[in-house]
Amino acid sequence: MSILDHSGPAARAQFWVWWAMLIVTVVVSLSVYALWLYTFRRREQPQRTPREERRIMLRWVLGGGIALPVVSIVALLVFAAPTGRSMLPLPLPEGEAERIEVIGHQWWWEIRYPGEEGERDVITANRLVMPAGEPVDFRITSEDVIHAFWIPRLGGKRDMIPGRHSTIRLEADVPGVFGAQCAEYCGAQHTHMLLHVEALERDAYDAWLAERRAPPVPQEGFDQAREAFGEHCAACHTVAGFPEELVVDELEHDIRGPDLSDIGSRPTLGAGVLPMEEGAIAYWLQHHQTLKPGNRMPPHHHIDTETLQDIGAWLEMLEP
Ligand code: CUA
Repeated sequence: MSILDHSGPAARAQFWVWWAMLIVTVVVSLSVYALWLYTFRRREQPQRTPREERRIMLRWVLGGGIALPVVSIVALLVFAAPTGRSMLPLPLPEGEAERIEVIGHQWWWEIRYPGEEGERDVITANRLVMPAGEPVDFRITSEDVIHAFWIPRLGGKRDMIPGRHSTIRLEADVPGVFGAQCAEYCGAQHTHMLLHVEALERDAYDAWLAERRAPPVPQEGFDQAREAFGEHCAACHTVAGFPEELVVDELEHDIRGPDLSDIGSRPTLGAGVLPMEEGAIAYWLQHHQTLKPGNRMPPHHHIDTETLQDIGAWLEMLEP
């Protein structure tokens, strides 16, 4: 997750701004230290009249204290401004770049791929799949507190502000996997707000999306698990094609949990807390408040282990 290991045009532009700022900062710091050492030498020089002292001091204050900072900061600003501008979606008309919506939650990422008319929206969590080699407009917002969207190797970052949508344009040069992390302190589990970013070739991306866009296949088997899910989980979580008659409570609060339609295909659980392995979901369901204390999912002490294992086994099967 190093910004110096750039893998896209926005990150490359930021890379040069980073170096420019480092070089200017080093030059300024060394000059200040050199001047400080110079003051020791001056003490041994003959006394000046107060008038001369004032003139010299004024020269240093105007030159070193005002003119120099103004010149160097304006120079850095002029150098860096186009970089910031290049990440705004202004140059390409809307519709010419792929659009992906990213919504921050405490403490997970909701990713939405809006469908054309008559198509289903594809909704997933904590895993962002994008096409490589073309610009992608990320439309970002938050549903609770301020988070920040940041994929260091592709560029960024930008605050995700509740009630407001902003767009950031990023591009991955080549297919690959990139780490991303919430970059604004957003509460106790800010650390555990990782995002797994995958850039795919256009064809693979289209196939990935089409698989999830297809109408859900009616679910079979795992009757007990699905019934328990309807009773304990479906008030916050959704699974595409989950039969409505099994949902016991309708959503009556504003806490929404991740859509679990393709959870079995995700690389991690709990936004990077556990790798997705066999039995991982059942383990998470039993220990999630120890693994990620304070997360919005209530503890499951009232549900017996066997039922949780059942639900876990069923969820693991959920892949497009
Ligand atoms: Cu979300 Cu920090």
